[in-house]
Amino acid sequence: MSFQNLKPQVDSILNLEELSVDQRLTQLCTMLKENITYYNWVGFYFKNGDKNELKLGPFAGEPTDHIIIPFGKGICGQVAVSNQNFVVADVNAQNNYIACSIHVKAEIVVPLFLNGKNVGQIDIDSNIVDPFSEEDERFLEWVNEKVAEIL
Ligand code: SME
Repeated sequence: MSFQNLKPQVDSILNLEELSVDQRLTQLCTMLKENITYYNWVGFYFKNGDKNELKLGPFAGEPTDHIIIPFGKGICGQVAVSNQNFVVADVNAQNNYIACSIHVKAEIVVPLFLNGKNVGQIDIDSNIVDPFSEEDERFLEWVNEKVAEIL
């Protein structure tokens, strides 16, 4: 399934106004996980109120123990402060990494901006090494822009 073909599905899920935002984001995570073979865990983390920490939001895949991640910790916590995409080809080569599952080999985290502020991120784990390209980055940036419209 190409990213271009997935975009209408993203739009239609985000437009399901009869569902809550969290329900829509859960469906979105599930749809991405099911349609992109190397997306094995898909979830959103959001800034936890006024605290300098992230809190797990909707996700699809194995439950994780990492519900709260302090800013600066792990790949997610680093993106919370850098405001930059973080593509990790091989998680074993990272020192500041929080392991969620022994199966995970690679990770991509793309920040989500609302009115120019970094309010959260989409986080994707893959069970294969080095699966992500710039196409994933551009697609996930687009997804986050669409999500920001319903927050
Ligand atoms: N691996 C992440 C933690 C979140 S899990 O992937 C769900 C990190 O290093 O921040």
